[in-house]
Order: sequence, then C-alpha cells, then structure tokens
Amino acid sequence: MDGNLIIKNAFVVTPVGNTALKGEEMGNLKHIENALVVVKDGRILYCGPSGEAPDIDNTSFKEIDAAGRVVLPGFVDSHTHLIFGGYRPDEFEWRLKGDSYMSIMERGGGIQSTVNHTKETSAEDLASKAQWFIDRMSEMGVTTVEAKSGYGLDTSTEMKMLDVIKSLADNPNQKLRIVSTFLGAHAVPKEYKGRTDEYIDLMIKEMLPAAKGKAEFCDIFTEKNVFEIEDSRRFMKAAKEAGFKLKFHADEIVTLGGAELAAELGAVSADHLLHVSDKGIADMAKSGTVATLLPLTAFALREPYAPARKFIDSGCAVALATDLNPGSCFSGSIPLTIALACIYMNMSIEETITALTLNGAAALDLASETGSLEEGKSADILILEFNNYRMLPYYIGMNCVNTVISKGRVVNKN
Ligand code: NIG
Ligand code: FE
Repeated sequence: MDGNLIIKNAFVVTPVGNTALKGEEMGNLKHIENALVVVKDGRILYCGPSGEAPDIDNTSFKEIDAAGRVVLPGFVDSHTHLIFGGYRPDEFEWRLKGDSYMSIMERGGGIQSTVNHTKETSAEDLASKAQWFIDRMSEMGVTTVEAKSGYGLDTSTEMKMLDVIKSLADNPNQKLRIVSTFLGAHAVPKEYKGRTDEYIDLMIKEMLPAAKGKAEFCDIFTEKNVFEIEDSRRFMKAAKEAGFKLKFHADEIVTLGGAELAAELGAVSADHLLHVSDKGIADMAKSGTVATLLPLTAFALREPYAPARKFIDSGCAVALATDLNPGSCFSGSIPLTIALACIYMNMSIEETITALTLNGAAALDLASETGSLEEGKSADILILEFNNYRMLPYYIGMNCVNTVISKGRVVNKN
C-alpha cells in the first residue's frame, strides 16, 4: 500500500506540461475544485474532477481528505550548495558592517574558507549535516533538490562531496529526490592562485572524468576575477563534450556576459543574473535556457534583485531557487523566496508557483518527471494549510505547507 494514495476533496492548483512555461504562459495555472488525486505505485494515476475518476479498489489505497485545501505540486529547489563543512557567521557580520562579498573572497575567506573546513570534515559528518538541511527543506514542501560540490577544489575532496550527495540520494528512506552537480569551477583554489589555466587543465583532465557518473550537471562561477568568460568557455565546452548538462552562476556580482555564454553553449539554466544585460536576456529567450533567480541571495547581500519581469516579458522561462550555502545566502527558506519574488521582483503569485514547480523541474531537466500534477508524473504533492493559494506570499516568510508527499509517500504531516 506504500505509494498508493487517494486525496479527496482537493483544490488542485498546478501548471501543466512537460516543458518549462515561458513568458506569459507562466501565469497559467489549472484549477480543479473538488478534485480527486489517485496515486498508484508512487505515480499519479488520475488528477481531475472527482465525478470522473476511474473505478479503483479503495481498500489498497490510503485515503487523505484534503477538506477543500489547496493541493500543489511539490516544490523544486534547483540551486543549492547543501554539502559543506563549517559555517561563516563572522563573514556575515563583516558584511553587516560594510565589507563586500568579493573583498572577503579576495582576502582568502569566502568560498576558500568553506573549502578548508570541507577538506577536514569526514564524509559521514558532511552527510549527516546535509540531511538536517534536507529535513528542514522537506518540511517546507521541497520534493526535489539540486546539490552541488564545489567546496573541495581538489579531485579527492570534490569526489568526496559527490559521493556524499549520491549516498543521500540513494538512501531508500530519503524524503526527496536529489540531483547532483559538479562545481569544481567554484573558485580557483589558493594553491593555483594566478594559475587559472592550470587549474582548468586539472579539472578537464582529472576531475571531469572522475565526476562522470556521479554528477549529471556541471556548473561554474563565471565572475570577474574568478572564471572570466574565456576561462568559462574553455572549461564548459569540455564539460559539455564530456557529456555533462550545463548550469552557470552568471552575472551575479558584475555584468560579464555569463548569460550570453550560457545561451551560446545551450546550458539548461543560468542562475543568479542580478546584473544580466539586455542582450543576455534576449539570448536566453532564444536558446530556451531557464533563468533561475535566487532572491534570497540578493536580499542577504543587499544587492538589487534580478529583473524577473524583464525575463518574463521577453519570453524567458523563470525558475526560483534558494541558493542555500554557508556564505552569500545561508537560508533555504521557500516561504521567504515566495514573498521576495512577489513583493520585490513583481512576479505574480501564479508565476511564482510555476517558477518553484514546473520551471524548477525544467531547470533540472526533470519537467516530464515532476513539477506538475498530471497523470504519469511522480506523485510529488503538497497539501497546504489553506483553501486559497494566495496565502503563500501573503503569510510572509511562514510555512503554509501541511502535508508533503514524495514519490507517493507521506514524508511530512503537520
Ligand atoms: O551562489 N557565488 C558563488 N557561489 C555561491 C556562494 C558560495 C559561498 O559563498 O560559499 C553563490 O552565491
Ligand atoms: Fe550558488
């Protein structure tokens, strides 16, 4: 009976389709009042008006009465750095006093500081710490999460991180689906300072082959004084040739052309984009690269928010994610992400829901597997506390999720 469920009296609210919704399509959500959702073996067998449901033998299904409350697809957090050693509260305080993220990084803090801690932390400790964050995410309705390496910057520590991600993903009791990304190009490690080319050679020759089969995506921090455009083009072309799907940290701190490069190389997503150029937006609209916006990072760094409206009005697909990491954004709050998107990025509530469900799934190349409530998809389903989905941004920063169902299994119930 595990994986077999009937949710009755549901108010289903969901985007529709197996691909990202672009531009004004992002506002189109299907509403089904008095709906029934039937889940068999962890997949959605039926989602529609209760009067039209197929005949099934109720005795082998666990029944949940949604009592008219909103039923949504599970949230997809498509950009996190959830595996890391140590914490950096000292840097947070320096930034409160006026220090900048990049000046801390250039002094040898920032990412390098977490690299030092991650090298010293055992795989077991990294995994149990990450599991704690996963459990918190699951409570907020996340049913799919992406996790990056990038705090090793040497082959063995990068592989230790990818192995931790794999062990978490393969745990049969895991509460959510985990997608793995290799981010060896997160920073130039201190041992290679001034020798970026040699570090890229090492990644191409040693790390990419070692990461193959452990990570599905490859990501890079394309940024001034980190990996510039030509460095990024060389490395990401090699990653693509090695069979990785591509993601970019693009135009986060300055306008550099990361969005244009992501579009040129056919990346699945380009992320951050606080300082994207108009050409970058136009190129991404043309290539279909998902714009993954991370409002919690802009909030935490006191930076301007990414131009969500420009992306949507230019016909792009926008996803939202948390960027949970110990430095620029130590938060995995889905409720606050929703509030910031609506209040400061002028996204409608419907666009915000699409961005956190179907478009988040598309940013992980999973739009035909999850992200909407449709027959055949994985049963990743949320029941909210309320019968009105507009409560999501209105109840600012607070968790509106009552029940979380992941692959047909109830993993959280408030
Ligand atoms: O997405 N900018 C690069 N990477 C992360 C921050 C990582 C860190 O500060 O530890 C980001 O903002
Ligand atoms: Fe990030």
